[in-house]
Formats: sequence, C-alpha cells, structure tokens
Amino acid sequence: MYDPAFISADVDLAALTDGLTAQPNARLCLYGPPGTGKTAYGHWLAKQLNKPLLLKRASDLLGAYVGENEQNIAKAFKQAEEQGAVLLIDEVDSFLSDRRGAQRSWEVSMVNEMLTQMESFSGIFIASTNLMDGLDQAALRRFDLKAKFDFLSTEQVWKLFVRHCKQLDLPHRKKTLPQQLAALEYLTPGDFAAVARMSRFSPLQSAEAFIQALKNEASHKEQTKKQKFGF
Ligand SMILES: Nc1ncnc2c1ncn2[C@@H]1O[C@H](COP(=O)(O)OP(=O)(O)O)[C@@H](O)[C@H]1O
Ligand SMILES: [Mg+2]
Repeated sequence: MYDPAFISADVDLAALTDGLTAQPNARLCLYGPPGTGKTAYGHWLAKQLNKPLLLKRASDLLGAYVGENEQNIAKAFKQAEEQGAVLLIDEVDSFLSDRRGAQRSWEVSMVNEMLTQMESFSGIFIASTNLMDGLDQAALRRFDLKAKFDFLSTEQVWKLFVRHCKQLDLPHRKKTLPQQLAALEYLTPGDFAAVARMSRFSPLQSAEAFIQALKNEASHKEQTKKQKFGF
C-alpha cells in the first residue's frame, strides 16, 4: 500500500532518493501531525537506498540514570555507523527541546550530545517530531532539510480511498463518494491504515462504511488536533 504519492509535504521527498544515493550523508528533520507518514518515509527511504534502517524511539533512548541518555544516544549513532544504516530517531522533540527552556543541566547535556553526534555522523540521519515549536534553534540549523508533513489533499484522499477499496474488494464507483470524502478534513494515511486494520476483524460492507469509519477516526482527533499540534 505504501506509495510516496501519499505524502503531503512541502518538499519533493521522492525526488530526494537520487540525490541521497549519490551523496548518502544528510540530516533530515520531518515534522507534522501524527499519522502523516514520517516514520513510514524513513522505512521507504532506507529501502530505496538499499540500507538497513535503525529506528529508535524516545523511549528506547531515555534512561533513568545520570548520563544514560547521552550514552544511549552515542550508542545509537555508533550502531548506525557500524551497520551503514539510516538512523531514524522518532519523537526527537524529547531530545532536542530548546536549551533556553531547559531547567536541568542534564537536558542541556542531552541536546549537546545529540548535536555532537549529528555533526560527526557520516550517514543519513532522520529526526521526526509532531512538535516543531519547542525545538532547539541551533539544532534546527544543523538539519540540511526540514520537511513539513501535512494532512492529505482532497485528491490524495480520493486516490488512497480507491486503493483501499480495491484492496478490500469494495465497489467504489458511486457518484456521491468523492463528495462525501471531500467533506472530511484532516485525514492522514495513518487514518486509512487504522480503518484497514480494523476491517481485518470487523469487515466493512461498503465503501460508505469505509468513509464512516474514516469519519470516526477523524473525530477522535478533533479535540486534540488544534490545541496540541497547532498546524
Ligand atoms: N505514503 C504512504 N502511503 C500509504 N500509506 C502510508 C503512507 N505513509 C504512511 N502510511 C500509513 O500510515 C501509517 C502511519 O504512518 P507513520 O509513518 O507511522 O506516521 P507518523 O510517523 O507521521 O506518525 C503507516 O503505518 C502506514 O500504514
Ligand atoms: Mg512516527
């Protein structure tokens, strides 16, 4: 189901592959609402480049002891270097919060460790985050490219819908469907994936039922969307 055509970003990320094949050293920052495909893009890119992906979440790297975070960060970069892997750190906001707002010295030293590691890493490093606002300014400057992942356009929603209907064997030629879909806002590939997963144990009977399920997915986000993400 994965197709870079369903990325809604302000940079042509599919086109980047050629450049990165020739010059596999870059620091990318992917930001935007959850479900927009930031992590999936990391997987896809690594595959295109024929490299393994080393994926680390904040929870993999944060430790309870003094100096543990820094050690884990250093280890992740070292491991990626040794494996020739693309390194993707998810929820990077946990590491790169603005040092100006840092209350404790360990927060400052963690950001510093990330910056040092980013600088000396010779491969492709991808940082992803849902929260761009609180990120450290010096850290942001060190990214070669910052790409904003956004909600799907009406056209992308329709195309992804048709793909999913085909996969699930749901008739989707009814004239009213595009209009019903266009009425839904703030959809992401993640919403489609969630509905498709649900349909495995609770089969959908029609394309309309798929739309209704998407609507439910979207409504769960209504509350948090604006306050929390500010996109
Ligand atoms: N370009 C794409 N084409 C099709 N499906 C996608 C695409 N990007 C993401 N998805 C689906 O959406 C789900 C959520 O994407 P994910 O990368 O985890 O979002 P994020 O990291 O931005 O929160 C993925 O598991 C995948 O099933
Ligand atoms: Mg993610």
